[in-house]
Amino acid sequence: MTKLAGIIGHPVAHSLSPAFQGAAFRHCGLDVRYEAWETSPEALAGRLVSLRGPAFLGANVTIPYKQTVIPMLDELGGQSARVGAVNTIVNRNGRLFGFNTDGPGFVASLRREAHFDPAGAAVLLLGAGGAARGIAFALIEANVRSIAIANRTPERARLLASDLASNGGSVLAVALDDSLDRYGLIVNCTSVGMHGGGGESEMPCDLSTASPGAMVADIVYVPEETPLLRKARALGLRTLPGLPMLIYQGALAFELWTGASAPVEVMFDAARDALTQRAVPSAADAER
Ligand code: ATR
Repeated sequence: MTKLAGIIGHPVAHSLSPAFQGAAFRHCGLDVRYEAWETSPEALAGRLVSLRGPAFLGANVTIPYKQTVIPMLDELGGQSARVGAVNTIVNRNGRLFGFNTDGPGFVASLRREAHFDPAGAAVLLLGAGGAARGIAFALIEANVRSIAIANRTPERARLLASDLASNGGSVLAVALDDSLDRYGLIVNCTSVGMHGGGGESEMPCDLSTASPGAMVADIVYVPEETPLLRKARALGLRTLPGLPMLIYQGALAFELWTGASAPVEVMFDAARDALTQRAVPSAADAER
């Protein structure tokens, strides 16, 4: 019997997950179809009920349901309860288990793609939304020395810092007016620099005072090189773009569903192909 998995969100049409998860299942010879499950708020509970059926391996969850799904699940695994968000659901014999692979996916991408071990690093985290939360908890688990959180809305940074500190981290909410030379890792978790996000030509911080050895990571993956990463590269800093985090969060989800090791290179290729196809102008555009 063909098994099913998919991504639950609203909207999901632009998700790259169907492209790279589908490629991973095919590559591994697994009879699984991965679909985009556009789900209205009214349809969410019904979607979760059907996910308990024997045909369903599980799902990914994206905006705006990463928190909403939690009360609809049976158990939470990994750091998902602390983070307060679930991006992966696994159906085990009709019971639904929630996980959050976003933060662990980021840390895996740092280690495996940027060859950067965050243990002992002083981190500057830009942003205090859902993505920043997941990444911050995973960085604490990876034994960073400290995390400084800067956010446009300082109150949100303070809230996240106090949540993290109560879990044993050395965390501080900061303003961006001091030199950045104390940080070994700078991570943009805001949407600044994202194509179509309004602030696409902007940068979330001024890198001119960053330490020459710093690693600058961005979770934005369209464009692949954001203005922040371009500036970092021009300054000779090390960089990690956002696509690897997307792929590794998906790879960890794939491994939770199947128990098989995820074909990461195949997933990268499929995601890049999908991004390229999107960038190709349509016939109508070309005629103009
Ligand atoms: P996500 O789940 O992707 O993290 P989110 O929870 O909406 O999304 O968080 C978006 C983050 O980007 C927040 O830190 C937000 O700052 P605020 O808390 O002040 O809203 C940040 N952000 C979005 N647009 C921004 C901009 N133009 N300048 C600076 N920060 C911005």
